[in-house]
Amino acid sequence: MAFDTALYRKVLGQFATGVTLITTALDETPWAMTANAFTSISLNPPIVMVSVMEGETRTHILRTSAFAVNVLAADQIELAKRFGSRNRPPDQFADVRLRPGVTGAPILEGCLAWVDCRLVDHTEQGDHTVFFGQVEDMRIERQADPLLYYNSGYARIEPARKTRRARDHAVEGKLVFFDWELGEY
Ligand SMILES: Cc1cc2nc3c(=O)[nH]c(=O)nc-3n(C[C@H](O)[C@H](O)[C@H](O)COP(=O)(O)O)c2cc1C
Repeated sequence: MAFDTALYRKVLGQFATGVTLITTALDETPWAMTANAFTSISLNPPIVMVSVMEGETRTHILRTSAFAVNVLAADQIELAKRFGSRNRPPDQFADVRLRPGVTGAPILEGCLAWVDCRLVDHTEQGDHTVFFGQVEDMRIERQADPLLYYNSGYARIEPARKTRRARDHAVEGKLVFFDWELGEY
């Protein structure tokens, strides 16, 4: 029986994730790509993983042996959309504030948090390359609602009002999907 690719996508879509921008710089020219195939692998040493399809980002990481992973806030959905498509505007970085990280990879100012990584290993798996990066620098940039991706849609968690201030505890909340027609949550 043929493998059901459509079902495979739907099944994987049940796994809710955050959304990141993977950033690289080749000859000081920045590049960014939206990615949710990101996970932590090891605490000691600190190693994370990203899975990247054939394209500019893959080439840049292989050439520079560095990448940064910037975790997006819900109010950065426009960046997720822009850098999640191969059809980018020519001025794609016009309103994006970047600063160089220690590895040379650009850091996205105003994201939730970032890790700046030196490439330590990679493996080709199917149609993607899995990159393992050792974290050289990191920071939590601000407190805000994270951007989520679930069931092929962008969403955010709207915390229940009474638990809004309980930042250090798990908060109750509801999943609010981004409405493409209204352009808002
Ligand atoms: C929410 C979302 C998550 C994505 N996650 C990944 C990912 O983990 N890996 C990947 O290779 N592409 C992912 N993509 C697709 C890339 O962002 C898109 O193909 C990008 O334009 C490729 O950039 P490149 O030209 O540097 O290869 C994702 C797209 C979206 C919208």
